[in-house]
Amino acid sequence: MSVQPAAPPAIILQSERPQDGPLVDALIARAFGPGRYAKVSERVREFATFATEMSVCAWSPDTGKGSRILGCARMWHVRVGGRRVMFLGPFAVEQGERNAGFGARMIDRACETALAAGESHVVLVGDEPYFSRVGFAAAPGRQVVLPGPVDQRRVLVRALANDPDPLVGLIEPA
Ligand SMILES: CC(C)(COP(=O)(O)OP(=O)(O)OC[C@H]1O[C@@H](n2cnc3c(N)ncnc32)[C@H](O)[C@@H]1OP(=O)(O)O)[C@@H](O)C(=O)NCCC(=O)NCCS
Repeated sequence: MSVQPAAPPAIILQSERPQDGPLVDALIARAFGPGRYAKVSERVREFATFATEMSVCAWSPDTGKGSRILGCARMWHVRVGGRRVMFLGPFAVEQGERNAGFGARMIDRACETALAAGESHVVLVGDEPYFSRVGFAAAPGRQVVLPGPVDQRRVLVRALANDPDPLVGLIEPA
C-alpha cells in the first residue's frame, strides 16, 4: 500500500490590504513586543516606502466564523548603492501556528511577487539559520550598510534573478 504525502495545512496568502493594517500591527506587537522599536530595521522602515501589494498576509480558511490572521511579511521599497531593492520585515507567524511552513510560504510568495514586479533583490535583517532555508545568504563583508549598528552576519540578501553584480552600498530611501 502506498502512503500519500500529507497535504500542506490550509492557508490563504494574499497581499496586505489597507483594512488589514491594524490586525497586522497587533500581530507584530504580539510577536516582537516593545523592543521592536529599537531595531535597526525600524530605522530603515522610517524612510522606506511601504509596498502593500508585495506584503503578504496569511489567513486561516473561512469556515463560517470568519478567518483569522496567521502571519505577515511586510515589504518596503529602498535603494542600495542607488539600485532598487526590496526590504522585508516585520515577518511573524502567530504563536501556536508556527513550524507548519507558513513562514516559508509567505517568504516565497513575497519574493515571487517582487520578482514578477521586476525587483532583483530582497534584503532583511534576521537569523541566518532560519533565512538560509528560504534562499537568503549573508551579504559578504560590509557591502550592504544599514543606518545604525547591526551584527553584519544578520544582514541577509536573496537574489531573485541571476544577477552577477552584488549589492554594495548604504540602504537609502527608494
Ligand atoms: C520566524 C517565524 C516567522 C517562522 O515562522 P514559521 O511559520 O514557524 O516558519 P516555518 O514553519 O517556515 O519554519 C519553521 C522552522 O524554522 C525553525 N526556526 C524558526 N525560527 C528560527 C530561528 N530564529 N532560527 C533558526 N531556525 C528557526 C523552526 O525551529 C522550524 O524548524 P523545523 O522545520 O526544523 O522544525 C516565527 O517563528 C515567528 O513569528 N517568530 C517570532 C518573530 C520573529 O522572530 N520573526 C523573524 C524576525 S527576523
